[in-house]
Amino acid sequence: MDPSAWWTQQLAEFVASVSSCTTETATARVAVERAAEVLDADAAAIMAGGELLAAVGYAEGTEPLGELKRMQPGAPGSQLEVPGVGWCAVAVAGLAYPAGATLVLARRDGLTRQETALLGGMARVAAMRMTMLSVLDHERGAREEVEQLVREQAALRRVATLVAKAVPPEEIFGAVTEELGKLSGADIALMLRYQADDAGTVVGRWSRSEMPDRIIGTQLKVEGAGVTVSVRRTGRPAHADVFAGPPRSAAECLRQAGVQMGNGSPVVVDGRLWGVMIIAATQPDGLRPEVERRIPAFTELVATAIANAQARVELRAIAEEQAALRRVATLVARGALPDEVFAAVAQEVGNVLPAADFAMVARYDPGRSVKVVGGWSRAGGTGLVGRRIPLGGQNVSTLVFERNGPARVDNHLIEGAEPMTATAREIGMRSSAGAPIRVDGRLWGVMVVASTREHTLPDGTEYQLAEFTKLIAVTIANTQAREEVRTLADEQAALRRVATLVARGEPPRRVFAAVAQEAGLLLRADLTLIGRYEEGTVTGVAGWSATGEPVPTRSQVSLGGRNVTEMVRSTKRPARLDNYADASGDVAADARGRGISSSVGAPISVEGRLWGVMVAASIHGQLLPPSTEGRLADFTGLVATAIANAEVNAELKASRARIVATADQTRRRIERDLHDGAQQRLVTLALQVRAAQAKVPAQLEKLTAELDHVAAGLSSTLDELREFARGIHPAILAKGGLAPALKMLVRRSSVRVTLDMQVRERLPEHIEVTAYYVISEALTNAAKHAKASAVHIRVDTASSALRLDVRDDGVGGADPARGSGLIGLRDRVEATGGTFRLKSRHGEGTHLLIELPVRRSD
Ligand SMILES: Nc1ncnc2c1ncn2[C@@H]1O[C@H](COP(=O)(O)OP(=O)(O)OP(=O)(O)O)[C@@H](O)[C@H]1O
Ligand SMILES: [Mg+2]
Repeated sequence: MDPSAWWTQQLAEFVASVSSCTTETATARVAVERAAEVLDADAAAIMAGGELLAAVGYAEGTEPLGELKRMQPGAPGSQLEVPGVGWCAVAVAGLAYPAGATLVLARRDGLTRQETALLGGMARVAAMRMTMLSVLDHERGAREEVEQLVREQAALRRVATLVAKAVPPEEIFGAVTEELGKLSGADIALMLRYQADDAGTVVGRWSRSEMPDRIIGTQLKVEGAGVTVSVRRTGRPAHADVFAGPPRSAAECLRQAGVQMGNGSPVVVDGRLWGVMIIAATQPDGLRPEVERRIPAFTELVATAIANAQARVELRAIAEEQAALRRVATLVARGALPDEVFAAVAQEVGNVLPAADFAMVARYDPGRSVKVVGGWSRAGGTGLVGRRIPLGGQNVSTLVFERNGPARVDNHLIEGAEPMTATAREIGMRSSAGAPIRVDGRLWGVMVVASTREHTLPDGTEYQLAEFTKLIAVTIANTQAREEVRTLADEQAALRRVATLVARGEPPRRVFAAVAQEAGLLLRADLTLIGRYEEGTVTGVAGWSATGEPVPTRSQVSLGGRNVTEMVRSTKRPARLDNYADASGDVAADARGRGISSSVGAPISVEGRLWGVMVAASIHGQLLPPSTEGRLADFTGLVATAIANAEVNAELKASRARIVATADQTRRRIERDLHDGAQQRLVTLALQVRAAQAKVPAQLEKLTAELDHVAAGLSSTLDELREFARGIHPAILAKGGLAPALKMLVRRSSVRVTLDMQVRERLPEHIEVTAYYVISEALTNAAKHAKASAVHIRVDTASSALRLDVRDDGVGGADPARGSGLIGLRDRVEATGGTFRLKSRHGEGTHLLIELPVRRSD
């Protein structure tokens, strides 16, 4: 064959061979194979940038890379040792592509010029093919890249639209899983939310073939070989070629689905690892490697969706909580009864906390116990309301009490025999949280919520209760304040009633009885007693019992021994005896006889001296509250005032009576003196003048006339004197009583008088005298000042008093301050214990209304 034809033939065949190659690597391989074959070479290779693209003639891995690299075109006489062949001559042709690449050919005998030219042609053809492939490849890659980017953008936009539309997070999980699955060329995609305790919940899934839907919501173990464990541990993306693990683990599920390789990417929400996105393939090379870089964009959307949803849920929860608080607050403001508020709070808290199945409000009582005062349970019913349970053990009520702060217990199923732990177990509590209820800074009780479900109550539940416990505290404080106010008001009212009696000057006997009753009712005592101290004894003056039975009071019980009455006497201070077991003395015996089990006493001091004692007692063993002493003292103060008033009144009355009596006695003495002395002498003188007149001779007419004048003067003086004496104390009053005495006054009055006299019987002398003086002065005044045409007098008796009603139809305006008559009457009337009333408005006449006690009433 013509050498040039052969050459052309060989090169054409070479072109045909490399033209069918679709990759650069394949082209290089075919190129060295064909070149070695055509030129009968012992070895051939294409080197590029120090790397071997393809080689023949060497056992794999034995290519002398360093030497091959040194072989450069145009370096004649080069030698290369080929294993199993020996030293060979080398021909080198440069390739225009890849940059700096060489086609090296080794043959024991060197190549002819023509063969070398053929080698150069082959190198050119191979480079061209590779260049072309590279350009095509690049173009295709670019196109694919753009297409992939477009697909990714579309997928992202779809998910972002869903997020923006605020669809539920579950839908976002599904969409993201599907989009990433499709984009990555995966066969299976799973999104897993990490849970506590090495578990995860499937929240999204996609598979190229079908996969049962119910896997959503399943819990899988985060264990075994795969990506879930390492992503969880490192928080970074992970790759795995082996998936296997214990049953019900994510790794094992994927293995069973035929997964051969997979990537896991962390899903981070609010800076915290939330879950993992797994993209897996059933072929070893099944995933597009570049997709891994795109995952964060999607998981970010997942995070946004979750955060948004959480924000919405939180907003809704906050709104619901606020509404619940407002409802309770309204109730509190309305002054609802505590029980109503407790029940409402328990229920509202239950509603606001979806994780709670049980809520209660309980009060800490003395002796380390709680009393349940409000309750709610999701199952219905009011829980434990009314129960009293001793504290102790590992439970929230006890912990809150001990810490005086919030507490939670997450596993109630632990053993514990304490009643409170047993109760928690009884209602199936698994986790519970409690917050203290503080009233005025003091620990009053506890609010507890509990869950009977496997999931524990959310973090911070114990703190969430705080707003509610505040409302409870306000209610309690309000109620306490209201009760205090009511008690104070009751006490004020009782004191006012007693004070009114005292001010009205009621007799002490009645004040004592009233005080005994008011104090007894107010202090919720069973029995109250008021006693008066005398020399070494005490005398009961009043008593009251809650049963309403009369309380006999004993006089002159000996003091001494150990009892409240003696304690008050010896200390002059309030005293208390809460146990009569070791009481002694006559007073204690009397108290025991009345069934008294505890008592409180307060001194009654009248103007600095100890007068008596007031005792409040309890019969049924219940102790009187500590405030009893102080409140008793308020009453004893009033008792003392009543006694002091009564004493002052009695003294005043006595002194007035003494003054009136002295005046009356003086008047009577004057009357007697006048009657026995001056009157008799005047009568005698008059008789002597008449006798002398008779002896005077008739011619001494002038003397006779003078004597006659003297006699007449004496007679009229005597009349005046008689009248004067009678006005002071008419004999007719003493002899005939009020009726004839008044009739005489009426007859002598210069003003017309009507007398309505209803009293016939005789009355005590000082009353009759006083009545006489009243009428006498009234008639005198009517004549002197009133310019009256008539005076009406009515005398009668009403409720053991003599009543005098005198009215004239004169000018009115009588004023005791302007004379001595009316004032004297008032003194006289009040000295008898009577009442004096004067009404005398100008132009309306004058009206006197006098009452004189007929029987002394203390
Ligand atoms: N019935 C009456 N009608 C009108 N004014 C009267 C009447 N009674 C008393 N007064 C007026 O009241 C004043 C006081 O009366 P009172 O009886 O105290 O004193 P008196 O009559 O003036 O003097 P005395 O009674 O001491 O002789 C009188 O001065 C008179 O101005
Ligand atoms: Mg007068």
